[in-house]
Formats: sequence, structure tokens, C-alpha cells
Amino acid sequence: MRVVRQTSLLCIICIFALLLSGATASTQRSDIEKRVDALLAKMTLEEKLGQLQQLDGEGDGKYRPEHLELVRKGLLGSTLNVRGAKATNELQKVAVEQSRLKIPLIFGFDVIHGYRTIFPVPLGEAASWDPSAVERAAGIAAAESRASGVHWTFAPMVDIARDARWGRIVEGSGEDPYLGSVMARARVRGFQGTDYSKPDKVVACAKHWVAYGAAEAGRDYNTTDVSERTLREIYFPPFKAAVDAGVGTLMSSFNDLNGVPATGNRFTLTQVLRDEWKFDGFVVTDYTAVMELMNHRLAATEAEAAQYALNAGADMEMVSRFYNKHGSELLRAGKVTQQTIDEAVRRILRIKLRLGLFDRPYTDEAREQAVVLNAANVAAAREIAARSLVLLKNERGILPLNKSVGSIAVIGPLADDPKAMLGPWSGDGKPSDAVTLLAGIREKVPGAKILYSKGVAIEGRGVTGNFDATPAVAESAARSATAATGPNSIEEAVNAARQADVAIVAVGETADMSGEAASRTSLDLPGRQMELIQAIHALGKPYVVVLMNGRPLTINWLAENSPAILETWFAGTQAGPAIADVLFGDVNPGGKLPVTFPRTVGQVPIYYNHKSTGRPPTDQKWTSKYLDVPVTPLYPFGYGLSYTQFKVGRPELSATSIPANGQIIVSVELENTGQRTGDEVVQLYVRDEASSVTRPVKELKGFQRITLGPGEKRRVQFTLTPEHLGFYNREMRFVVEPGEFKVMVGSSSEDVQEARFQVVAR
Ligand code: BGC
Repeated sequence: MRVVRQTSLLCIICIFALLLSGATASTQRSDIEKRVDALLAKMTLEEKLGQLQQLDGEGDGKYRPEHLELVRKGLLGSTLNVRGAKATNELQKVAVEQSRLKIPLIFGFDVIHGYRTIFPVPLGEAASWDPSAVERAAGIAAAESRASGVHWTFAPMVDIARDARWGRIVEGSGEDPYLGSVMARARVRGFQGTDYSKPDKVVACAKHWVAYGAAEAGRDYNTTDVSERTLREIYFPPFKAAVDAGVGTLMSSFNDLNGVPATGNRFTLTQVLRDEWKFDGFVVTDYTAVMELMNHRLAATEAEAAQYALNAGADMEMVSRFYNKHGSELLRAGKVTQQTIDEAVRRILRIKLRLGLFDRPYTDEAREQAVVLNAANVAAAREIAARSLVLLKNERGILPLNKSVGSIAVIGPLADDPKAMLGPWSGDGKPSDAVTLLAGIREKVPGAKILYSKGVAIEGRGVTGNFDATPAVAESAARSATAATGPNSIEEAVNAARQADVAIVAVGETADMSGEAASRTSLDLPGRQMELIQAIHALGKPYVVVLMNGRPLTINWLAENSPAILETWFAGTQAGPAIADVLFGDVNPGGKLPVTFPRTVGQVPIYYNHKSTGRPPTDQKWTSKYLDVPVTPLYPFGYGLSYTQFKVGRPELSATSIPANGQIIVSVELENTGQRTGDEVVQLYVRDEASSVTRPVKELKGFQRITLGPGEKRRVQFTLTPEHLGFYNREMRFVVEPGEFKVMVGSSSEDVQEARFQVVAR
């Protein structure tokens, strides 16, 4: 009785606390709106347009001399790339002490996978299938950023990418909207926490809104043409997840979207974002994207470009200056309303207030010293990097390597390349902070004799084939060919391998072969790296291939012939130690592919959640397939091995039928049947067997990364709700339709067991 009374008292207190915190939040919100109103009432048109302007720094974190004058006059609201407590404080001082209205600046920077302590590239982090690790990495990145005067990160990048030719596939979470949404939420939470005015948080920016990853032919900045259905089902969900997680800003993308470039697109910027999703933060354009509306030939003049973007709902203009140059003329001509300008300013001031910049505009320089690249952050980078590695092949248990091995040949152009470890978009990361694979191995097995040889170099732009190249491409191909043929370099590597008990060969792409403006038409290992591996292979000795790359590569020969392959992406500051942890078995790899690996670039776009077609592929002639290559991928989405073995049981369902608004519980038993502790990612896929609009063959709707000791078993449970079973019908309404559903549970998108249930009409 007493217990009951105490519990109910506790409940009442909890409810009060909740109500109180809700009330405090809404008071804070209305305070913020009042402060915005008061400022807006005092601002001149020039000062308002000034808030809409963001300009780039000078390089190396510095501001430009011009910024001082603009800030003093209230004509600049934000910068990008200016960073470091000292530089940001200096410029901020001008804003808050010398400008008329003392409105602080917001400093933005691309903190994509770490500020100074660099974590795996986002595609690698997604391969961890571990949202808590991803949240932790973003949290550390936020703490380092804020301590360095950066308030705002242009991340997470949540673009779905189904085309590995597109270099920016490295910046996102891969091909799947569900995994992408989980990762988007984790990153927003990590960057922002529950209150981004805190000294270790920043405001996040979901980008690039939207469908930028659908660039035709995988060529960056290229045109996109995507149906509204595909937008809503594939490209929007990670953005919606970010908005629901409270993301403060979005970035409008460069691409032409169905004829209306995304930076001038009212449907996406206002109708979906504001009207449907109730997003109340601000949108910044991508770099010079307003100006590029003229290159798209949407706008005939600078003024028209500003008019399109402002009226569509792009609030802050990055780098080009058309809002400022033409804002007042547009207002006078009635082409943009005062209300539109005020609303854009309001949204920006709102975020500045939520960041607490008016009350605490400066950064503590001592704090910067203490936080950036501190030992705890570096240790976290090592752990998270190890979680992102994916074991693609391990023949006859060659891995993990024995630590008492006598000699190891460490070979390859990426074995000792600290810049490659960091990958593209590596913030303020310094190659000098990075520990390479060679150094990681030396540290791991100090007793072993290490023979290092680079073998070949990767230079130029990853040009592989012989084709009718343009002069620039031909010149770069010639350069890479020269670089690769150093004197007897392959021979030297072969000699090293010959003398060693085992060889570790690190190959892949350099950091600048993926990322922005880094599209490739070939997914092969660039340069002469295959030749290097084949020469090592010919020795007939054990060797392991360690891949470092920012996109799926076509590695059929390796998959068929090499004894072991470990995919390490670009694993960051602690790449070397993390990879060594996995190679020598201190960490059992448990990552899974967040993206399909094709057999050939000719299969692209290839992704697991495709539709069925009227003639699904069979051996028969008149079906949907290729003459020369199977339709299946080399490695499917969700694939990855472990040093132990797991058995995923048959899925059991809590019901055989449910109503359209009901839910169903799916449970399976997972058992570690091997000899080591390890992780398995149990994956749940769903398929609507027949519906009024055709649906994918399967869609990921749940996953859990689970650690089990040898012989250990655990029951894993998922709940499917209407959100997981529904789709947009012909009227574009989200519905769950009656009929049969298939549930698939397993260890990859292809290795699954099935169960079925019915959704019944009431
Ligand atoms: C990229 C954005 C980035 C911006 C600022 C652009 O070129 O597309 O992703 O945030 O530059 O650096």
C-alpha cells in the first residue's frame, strides 16, 4: 500500500516536472519571439538584408579584412570557415560592441565527421549500424567545434545516394532511407543535444535539400529529375527525421530538381518544409547557389535570381550577394514583400537566440585548448573507427592475425598516408594528428619485424582506362602512370612480401577521389594497384587486403582470389590503431555495408530496395537482366562478416493478422555459435505483397547491433507500426492497405528468413 502511495506521489511529481519543463520551454520560445519582434522593429532594411548574408573566410580559419567593415555596419550576419576561438572572438567583438544593434554573428563550418579529432567518413560511420556511436562522434565534434568558436555545422549530410560514381556518396549514410533516417536523427542529437545553447553543442544543418544525390550519371551538380513519390519515399525521409529531431537549419542544394532548381524551389522549401513539416529554423543556400540560378538559366538577371530564391524560402545566401545587392530594388518593385524579408530575418535571429549568442557571444580560449583533440576524444575516435569496419571476406580464418607473427610486410600506397586516413571534408583535422596503418601495426606488434613498401602511388584523379580523354584528363592520366612506375616499385613490394610471414596490402582511393566534385566513371581500384595485388598474390603467401575508399568499389578479382578483405573506408585520426585492433583480433569486426557493392559500374544504379519489374530476372531470354553480368551485386546491402558465427532464427510474429492501424511484434533468436565474442546486426525487412502502387521488393524497417559471447543467445524484438507498413497511395496520402505482408529477418538484405501476416480491413 505504502509502495503504491509512494509511486503515485512520484508519478504526480514527474507529471508536474514535465508540465513545468514544457511550460518553461514554451516561455523560452515566446521570450525568443518577443526579442525577435523587438529587434525587427528597430532594424533598417539594410540591416535586415545583412542578416541574410553569409560570406566565406580567407582560408586557414581567418576572416577577411572586408568582414570587419561589413560587420560594423550590420551588413553581415554570418561567415563560414572562420574558426578558432581567437579569430571568431575578434570578429564577434566588432558585431556585439561596434554595430548599431549588437546582433552577434553565427559562425558556420563543415564539421562533417569531426572538427579536429576526425572520425570515420559518414558512410563509414553508417557502416557501424550503431546510432549511439554515431551520436557520440557528433557530440565530440560539437564540443570541439563550439570550443573553437564554431556555432553551426553544415552537417548532417543526409542525401540518399544510389550511384557510387557520385563522389559525395562518402558524406552520407548510403542508399537506404530508413538507415539514413536513423543516422540523421543520431547526428542531429549528437550535434545539438537537447539545448544547443550549451557550451559543448552546435546547431546542425541537414543538407542538401533535396535529391542532390540523384545527380544524373553520378556527375556532381548535375540535373535531377525525381517523381514526387520517390522524393517522398526515398529522398525526403532522412530530412524529415532530422526536422523531427529538432534540426535548426537546412541547406538548399545545387541541383535542378524537376525543372526548378532546389534553391529556387517553393514546393520543397516552403510547401513541404514549412507548411507540411512545420520547420521553424532557417534555410541557408549552398555555396553561390543563388548566383547559380543564372547558370541554370532559371534567372535572367541577378535580381531575378535573388527574387526566386527569397520567394521560394531560402533565407540566408551563402557567398553570392544578390539579396543584399538587389533586395531593396526588389522590395520597391513589389517583387519581394517586406513580410518575406522579415520572415527570413526572423528565422535567422530565432536560431541565434536559441544558440544563446546574444547572452554569450564569445568563446573561452582556454576551453578550446582543453577540449580540442584531447585524449578522451582521440580514444573515442579509435573505438568508433573500429566499429565502422566491414569484413568482406575471410577465407580459412586467415584473420585475425596472430600477434606472435614473426614478420609482416605492410604494403600499398595507402599504408602510410596520413591524409588519406582523414578522408574528404576533414574539418580542421591535420594529417600530422593521424596515425596510419603502418604506425598502428608497429604499435600493435612491437615484437614483429615490419617490412614496408609503398609499391605504387595513386596520383592524378583516379583515371584508369584508355579512352579518348580531354587534354586535362589525359595529362593527369599520364601523371598517375608516371607516378605509379617508380623504379622497380612493385618488385620492391614483392620482395618485402616474400621475406615476410604475412602481407597486409592497403589499397583504395586517395582522400580527394571522393567528396565534392569527385565523381568517377570507373569504380575500379585506380592506377596500378590491381597489378600490385596480383604480384603479391602470385607469391602464394597469406595476405590481407585493407581497403580505404569513399564509395563502393568494383573488386571482383579480390572477392574471388584474395584470402581476406577488410573495408575500412577512411577511418579518421585513429584509423591505423583501429584497423590494427581488428586485424589482430582485439576487436571483432561487426560493421555492415550501408550501400550495395556492384560487380561493375554498368550495373549502377544498383540498390537493394528496387521494384519488381514485369519480368523479374530468370534464365529465360525475355527477362530483366544483362547478357554479360548477373543482376545481383558483388556484396549486398547489409552484408558483413565476423570472426565468430551467428545463427539468426526464424522470425516469430505476435499475430497472424492486424488491422491497418495496428502493430505487430517480430521476434527472433540470435545465437553466437562460434568461438569468440562478436557483434551481429539483426536486420528486419518488410514487403507489401500487392498494393495499389507498386512497392519495393523489400525495405529495411528495423535493426539492432548486438554483442554476444560464444554460445550466448538472445531474443531480439522489433515492433512494426503503420509508419513501417504504409506508403503514399495514388492520391499521395500515406496509407496502410489491407493485404499480405512478408517480414524478413536476417544478417544482410539477402540472407533472411521469412514470415507472413495479413493486414485486414475493419
Ligand atoms: C558544399 C556544401 C558545403 C559548402 C560550404 C559547398 O560547396 O556543397 O556541402 O557545406 O560548400 O563549405
